[in-house]
Amino acid sequence: MTAPTALRGAVGTAHARVEGRDKVTGAARYAAEIPFAELAHGWLVLSTAARGRIRSVEAGPVLDMPGVLTVLHHGTAPRVDSEYIGMLGVPPDPSVALFQNDRVPHAGWPVALVVAETSEQAREAAEALVVHYEEEPHDIGFDAGRTDAYPVDGHMPAVTEKGDLAARLAESAVVVDAEYTTPEEHHNPMEPHAATARWDGGRLDVVDSNQGSTWVADELCKLFSLDPASVRVRSEHVGGGFGSKGVRAHQVAAVMASTLLQRPVRVVLTRRQMFSLAGYRSPTIQRVRLGADPDGRLRALEHESLSLTSTVYEFVEPSAGVARAMYDADAHRTANQVVRLDVPTPTWMRAPGEAPGSFALESALDELAEKCRIDPIALRVRNEPGTGPVSGLPFSSRNLVACFEEGARRFGWADRDPRPGMRRDGRWLLGTGTAAASFPAGAGPSTAALTAEADGSFTVRIAASDIGTGARTALTLIAADALETAPERVRVRIGDSDFGPAMIAGGSMGTRSWAWAITVAAGELRERLAAGNGIPPEGVTVRSDTTAAIGALAQKERHSFGAQFAEVAVDAGTGEVRVRRMLGIFAAGRIVNPLTARGQLVGGMTWGISMALHEEAVRDRVSGGHVGADLAGYHVASHADVPHIEADWIDDPDPDDPVGIKGIGEIGIVGAAAAIANAVRHATGVRHRSLPIRPDRVL
Ligand code: MOS
Repeated sequence: MTAPTALRGAVGTAHARVEGRDKVTGAARYAAEIPFAELAHGWLVLSTAARGRIRSVEAGPVLDMPGVLTVLHHGTAPRVDSEYIGMLGVPPDPSVALFQNDRVPHAGWPVALVVAETSEQAREAAEALVVHYEEEPHDIGFDAGRTDAYPVDGHMPAVTEKGDLAARLAESAVVVDAEYTTPEEHHNPMEPHAATARWDGGRLDVVDSNQGSTWVADELCKLFSLDPASVRVRSEHVGGGFGSKGVRAHQVAAVMASTLLQRPVRVVLTRRQMFSLAGYRSPTIQRVRLGADPDGRLRALEHESLSLTSTVYEFVEPSAGVARAMYDADAHRTANQVVRLDVPTPTWMRAPGEAPGSFALESALDELAEKCRIDPIALRVRNEPGTGPVSGLPFSSRNLVACFEEGARRFGWADRDPRPGMRRDGRWLLGTGTAAASFPAGAGPSTAALTAEADGSFTVRIAASDIGTGARTALTLIAADALETAPERVRVRIGDSDFGPAMIAGGSMGTRSWAWAITVAAGELRERLAAGNGIPPEGVTVRSDTTAAIGALAQKERHSFGAQFAEVAVDAGTGEVRVRRMLGIFAAGRIVNPLTARGQLVGGMTWGISMALHEEAVRDRVSGGHVGADLAGYHVASHADVPHIEADWIDDPDPDDPVGIKGIGEIGIVGAAAAIANAVRHATGVRHRSLPIRPDRVL
């Protein structure tokens, strides 16, 4: 242990990742890399039919292939229970109840698992497995005006409305009425989903890559009707999640096979399989109607969003929700609808709702500013609500205007000529754009255990998940401050369901939720140590549980905010759009580790470039499956696409959080695509209402 560098105030100072050296030297092992004796390998077989029934699975010939141990399908797999409510308070997507019947609800549905001695043998046998289907007509047509669309609540009410929208629109001097679309998008974390399951001394031990070990443990325990104490899920290092790493087919398949074979079984998803099995962001069709006075003051605001879900589970991409926190109007209506199609179930992905919703709403605001001939920032400042537009609740803090002021100053916004198509750099047309960002700030109940060790160091145990954000490092700084010690004296252990219930790395709530539990436990531990009874060889351990404290939080409109700025260059000859620079200024609570926080925000803004210009999953209506389901066919921003991006923040500590944290997981992407689209409009004079802004759409 190195000498302490500071005794107080680690939070707010830059720290390299505590596991960074392990990661860059390869010492950090990811889920599919951890060795086990007697390891067998499972390979999933996915449906080629787009809808129908499995008539038969010809397992016989495959069982004779080299190394093949078993073939699991609906005729041979153990039964599971999918009638439960999981840790997050929602029933499971029945897609994880693998091999329970012969129904095929979409192309890419898992129909079998081939298990063999080696991964190569399993793959070869899986590819040779013949499955006969009774196909039925399928429908994947996600089109505006579907009459079978219906409102879905999800985690928020489907519809909010106040005032007489038609009347206020009719009397508005300026009206914007536009439709915006966003495509199907996929998480594509660098590390594919992977799990190894085994029975170890009567306990199920699953080594996995996920966004919450207790979450996955809880789901597996309920699916397989196991005693909670007999299930352990570990997930030490995670190479990205973005919402996709919960309980999925691979863990369930691995548990089934390891139970049957009484051997450790590993199941890894291929990149291509991830397009069917890992969830994705639904495409959206959104309509925004704004009515305003000549000075831009909103009189009417309507935001409607249509997304899709599968026939087996109701998931809604709540894109219209963003308007509920952002802008008020005398008449205000928001509505989230879904249509059920023969496709895999979508899921949360990178600011679910806010990311596509802000593209539509913040593009519409830009259109309104142009029609009113006022500056887009001035328009937003003019429409700042005093309280939550729908909730009527006070904001815990709302520093959006301060973000715009700081951002405008640093970006050089004051010099901008608002007229489109005025700036050129050789063959490039130049433009700048801006947009607002917001994301809910919340916390979930968590438990933590803190141990004062006899050698003067401390050990923190919490079932947190570091999905690449630097959570482990942030929690080290939090614990050091709460314990009034140096980070070097604190060891943070995460990613193990045996550490007890904890919030997932999701909803931008992970670090705040875990920090809260650690802070409470540290306070109690310091009191125990102050009592002066010394530290026995096994140390002194204190446990915390924040369920009651979080439940007692006053009702407020709690959000992080931000201002996004982008400069683009558009090649009028080829239609290519290049982002030249971006700036994001955020009011997102106290920043724990400026080094990794900046990385998280710049990463979010980079995904915004990706969303604006590249990402688009294309489904073939005939086969029901994807065209180009890989990183060659599905473009994400690569290093060469990412120019100078700067992210910074203003002082905005959360008034009701013990550490002042709000959460920065997702806000970086919110508004980023709109800022780029608004910049393209400024450069070219052409408004793009459909993402991505591909060259063929620019020309
Ligand atoms: Mo995030 S989409 O809540 O993992």
